[in-house]
Amino acid sequence: MFSNLTKQPTDKIMAMMGKFKADPRVGKIDLGVGVYKNAEGITPVMRAVKAAEHKLWEEQQSKAYVGLVGDPAYADAMISLVLGEAVSRDKIAAAATPGGTGAVRQAFEMIKMANPEARVFVSDPTWPNHISILGYLGIEAVSYRYFNSETRGVDFAGMQEDLEGLKPGDVVLLHGCCHNPTGANLTLDQWQLVIDQLNAKGAIPMIDIAYQGFGDGLEEDAQATRLVASSVPECLIAASCSKNFGIYRERTGLLLAVAQDADLQALTQDNLSSLNRLNYSFPPDHGARVVTMILNDDALRADWKAELEAVRLEMLALREQLAGELKRLSNSDRFDFIGRHRGMFSLLGTTPDMVEVLRANNAVYMVPDSRMNIAGLDTATVPILAKAIIDAGI
Ligand SMILES: Cc1ncc(COP(=O)(O)O)c(C=O)c1O
Repeated sequence: MFSNLTKQPTDKIMAMMGKFKADPRVGKIDLGVGVYKNAEGITPVMRAVKAAEHKLWEEQQSKAYVGLVGDPAYADAMISLVLGEAVSRDKIAAAATPGGTGAVRQAFEMIKMANPEARVFVSDPTWPNHISILGYLGIEAVSYRYFNSETRGVDFAGMQEDLEGLKPGDVVLLHGCCHNPTGANLTLDQWQLVIDQLNAKGAIPMIDIAYQGFGDGLEEDAQATRLVASSVPECLIAASCSKNFGIYRERTGLLLAVAQDADLQALTQDNLSSLNRLNYSFPPDHGARVVTMILNDDALRADWKAELEAVRLEMLALREQLAGELKRLSNSDRFDFIGRHRGMFSLLGTTPDMVEVLRANNAVYMVPDSRMNIAGLDTATVPILAKAIIDAGI
């Protein structure tokens, strides 16, 4: 049986991680993998997470199953974090999932269950796993223009033009904040125009929000998602706690479905439970419980918010330092976009060949599409990267 299997395409990010590990050069710089790293190159356990885990260790009396969609307290806490008061609770169905990836996967499965004809429109570029999962599930992915390779901002006119091809029932996948891989984001006015266009076309938005708190702030980063959820009849939201709580390996995510009314909410909730049952029965609990404890405890929440804000400001400072250094070395403002991008990533907008030059000559690793993880830098490596970029003639 196993001989019938064919070799799967290698995930480019995983392949690059392997190459980085094997590189013996001292001072090599990893801007590839999408995890936050502090100035010491460590992905730390956040203080509030440690404190909550400690409390949990002392207080937890049982590890029996919780429920098919996880603890309702987790859903409630996350709904407040992501949606605030934007949508009335009786319209929201929710299911805990293994990470944001699990939420994305369950959302796609639900789209297929509800409408096998639906196509999913994805930004070009997008997080590659979106396209891989859609392909695996046999859902047609249609890409819409998103990144303007001249300005390195959003190609909004191109995006709108491509969304004109939507048919009723199609789904449009949007990144709630901190677009991965580009770092370029829509303004709130542009979000409103997209919402109007989707409503006019009868298309359904799906928001992937994996970096809330990494861009302009915890509340600011949720604004677009809240605007969408309160302005459309139905939408899906895949949220991840991996980055903003630093609990990557705990696999903590949540899928939300905003339904038109309470009856459809009940039907949707029933289907979310069933999907969890079919795929893995019960979602992981540890990370979700820690998140719930943090969000529901004033002191832990305040400490978490402070640490997250420090992380955000540190990444912003690195962006500004890099943009400034490149301005100085290039004697031009062509790299100013790095300061305008938000989140962990910026797409440098160069070719895979140039990315290879940076790797070969300077031991700088980025994804072949030229996505840089800004958090992989520190104040000492920023000038090294800037010089490498200029030396390569980018
Ligand atoms: C856009 C986007 N969505 C979802 C995820 C999923 O994150 P996780 O499954 O680690 O929670 C990521 C992580 O890289 C991402 O960048």
